[in-house]
Amino acid sequence: MFQNVEPTPLDPIIRLIGIFKADNRDNKIDMGVGVFRDSNGNTPIMAAVKEAEQRLHDQQTTKTYVGLSGDESFNQHITRMVFGDADTSRIRAVQAPGGCGALRVLSEMLSRVSSDSKVWLTDPTWGNHYPIFQGSGFETETYPYLNRATKTVAVDELLDALSRRGPQDIVVFHGCCHNPSGAELQPEHWDEIARLAGKTGFFPFFDLAYQGFGDSLEQDVYSIRTVAREVESLVVASSCSKNFGLYRDRVGCAMIAGESSKSADRACAQLLSTARSSYSMPPDHGAAIVGMILGDQQLRQAWEQELTDMRGRILGLRVQMSNKLRARTGHNRWDFIADHRGMFSLLVLDDEQVNRLRDEYAIYVVAGGRINIAGLRDEEEMDRFVDAFVTVTE
Ligand code: LMR
Repeated sequence: MFQNVEPTPLDPIIRLIGIFKADNRDNKIDMGVGVFRDSNGNTPIMAAVKEAEQRLHDQQTTKTYVGLSGDESFNQHITRMVFGDADTSRIRAVQAPGGCGALRVLSEMLSRVSSDSKVWLTDPTWGNHYPIFQGSGFETETYPYLNRATKTVAVDELLDALSRRGPQDIVVFHGCCHNPSGAELQPEHWDEIARLAGKTGFFPFFDLAYQGFGDSLEQDVYSIRTVAREVESLVVASSCSKNFGLYRDRVGCAMIAGESSKSADRACAQLLSTARSSYSMPPDHGAAIVGMILGDQQLRQAWEQELTDMRGRILGLRVQMSNKLRARTGHNRWDFIADHRGMFSLLVLDDEQVNRLRDEYAIYVVAGGRINIAGLRDEEEMDRFVDAFVTVTE
């Protein structure tokens, strides 16, 4: 069976995790995979999560199946967190195994209902978008996103490309904290995108993996809420890996806004049938924790505060890095780092620069030069990064 199987390359981010682990150097710095770390280099379990986990342990009396769509309280809370106080009568939500699982079931559902559509991804985008959408049978293309010289969004090119899309096009957006670039569309750009979506009829597909890591829980979904007001239908794949720190518990939510309550039901039935034929039912534990936190005033407050602190650390590191690079180089080419949002910035490095950072300085960044700024523990590591970075780039 397997003798003639061709080797297949691992996803670069997953490969990097392995190479980092195998590196014996004490001073190694992991700025690769998108995992939040505190100033001790840890990814702690959030206090509200610990508390909810304890309550769950004490209160749970059975481990029987919850159902195909998972925890309804979780689904409703996530719908509110994403869509706010919009009318949700034509929105359906299905708990999924992580944001990645949500992306996949939504993509599979769309390929069932609109197999001739083409999927448009930002250039650049998260590497796993390609296998997810292509694996569901879609042809993928890219539309301009990042101006690689300025590291800002190529807004004019992006809007021009979107103005040429139509009803057969599924356009994938990052709801906030663009991965890998860190460059953000501003509210006025989302207003324009929403207008274009309403006019041309392209189908918006939002990947929302970092709600709360950009500016605030509310501001980070301005994109989705604005577009949702202008279009008849869209989908959102949201993740609780980062904002609840529940990475390994695989907590995500697939949301469908249909043209009507009836069409949302039909699309949701297709989605559930897709889920049934793959993982069947989503894992309960993480979603039960999130549902409990969002439904309990005290836990919710504690969680929001901790999330605010995490975001504060990321924003602080951004300002610190851009200041240090300006002081060190005497120019403002790296000032954009302070304006980016989320954990990532794509610094646009070639393979030689990335390899030098790793081999000579024990600093791991993703191919292309994506850094996870939260991978820097303290000022000492920041200084080491700045030194190494300036040496390999200037
Ligand atoms: C990342 O981009 O590093 C994260 O989304 C983790 C992953 O699965 O790639």
